[in-house]
Amino acid sequence: MMYSLKWGVASLFIFVGTIANAQNEKHPSRKSLLETVEKRIKESASQYTFLMQELKPDRFPVTYYEDKGQLVTSGSEPWVGGFYPGGLLYLYELTGDTLLYQEALRKMDVLKKEQFNITTHDLGFMMYCSFGNAKRLEPKPAYDSILVNSARSLASRFNPKVGCLRSWDSDSSQFMVIIDNMVNLELLFAATKMTGDSSFYKIAVEHANTTMKHHFRPDYSSHHLVIYNPGNGEVRKKQTVQGASDSSAWARGQAWGLYGYTVMYRETGDPLYLEQANRIGQFILNHPHLPADGIPYWDFDAEDIPAAPRDASAGAVICSALLELSGYVEQPLSEIYLKAAEKMLQSLTSPTYFSDYGKNGGFLLRHGVGNYPRHADIDVPLIYADYYFIESMARYKRMNARY
Ligand code: GLY
Repeated sequence: MMYSLKWGVASLFIFVGTIANAQNEKHPSRKSLLETVEKRIKESASQYTFLMQELKPDRFPVTYYEDKGQLVTSGSEPWVGGFYPGGLLYLYELTGDTLLYQEALRKMDVLKKEQFNITTHDLGFMMYCSFGNAKRLEPKPAYDSILVNSARSLASRFNPKVGCLRSWDSDSSQFMVIIDNMVNLELLFAATKMTGDSSFYKIAVEHANTTMKHHFRPDYSSHHLVIYNPGNGEVRKKQTVQGASDSSAWARGQAWGLYGYTVMYRETGDPLYLEQANRIGQFILNHPHLPADGIPYWDFDAEDIPAAPRDASAGAVICSALLELSGYVEQPLSEIYLKAAEKMLQSLTSPTYFSDYGKNGGFLLRHGVGNYPRHADIDVPLIYADYYFIESMARYKRMNARY
């Protein structure tokens, strides 16, 4: 269903009017951007052949500290485990380079045990970005089994009294849900398609509805964390743990919300989710602190803007989501989203963000922010920035069949 309904002509006009400047600004021609993207895809494939040589067989890349020359890696348990194999799979799809495919399969062999991990809500990130892409490229019963088991593990964290999946574990009186969890729901939709069991679908819908009710502020920015009473679903507290303050708009949180509700619309066709994605998009694209190159500061309300670090990961997630969302709305909104995404892609493929071969520890993008309040991973490459950047390039290339 195309965008129309509640988000009527009046509000659309305000939106279009306020971001008309973005639309009118000079954009590189689509042909030229597409050529740049094609070049960066090839360079990304080479860069990842460098990165793979730096990694031990059972380790996953997380970030790189240039000052120490230190590649930071993890085992398969943290939330980032699926991004490296997922990025490799996209690059294999885009280039046909089987070295990348073999590396993805090796890492997924290490990752697959996480299908039974019931201590994390991040199974969508971990298992769908990896095994979901692997299944898309080469369907196999083994992938279905891993994805369904992963969805079962994720669903085990659902509390019907709250109407949400638990995100962070803590003492049993605190039921913590973060906005990031929206991006794990895609796995549940996939599980319903594979099994015919609608309970996964229903959990995803209920989680998205509860989140829509409690995570968002009147301006459609979102809190990072909502803490519920697990016994009756009452909201106890709202916080923005990874942001500048509880009332601030942490950039990656806004990105997860945009991406998550875009997927919700794709999977359900419910126009309420499209409206939510549009509202979040409006918040981001109209924000006076969104820099001219389209790559957000790590928090839209960071105190030291314009000196505050940018977060390329938030930019890449927003870019990928806008490319998809542009396909669900009518003109002129579709073109506005597409041009905003193109501006971000232009920036991310530029030498300001995109690294030369062998530099940046083998990662593609510079200037990501992991967890600013914890002073962790500030202005560094991040594997999830790379993943959503590669996905953006893949989506842009596919979409350009239209032009
Ligand atoms: N999901 C964790 C983060 O975005 O930092």
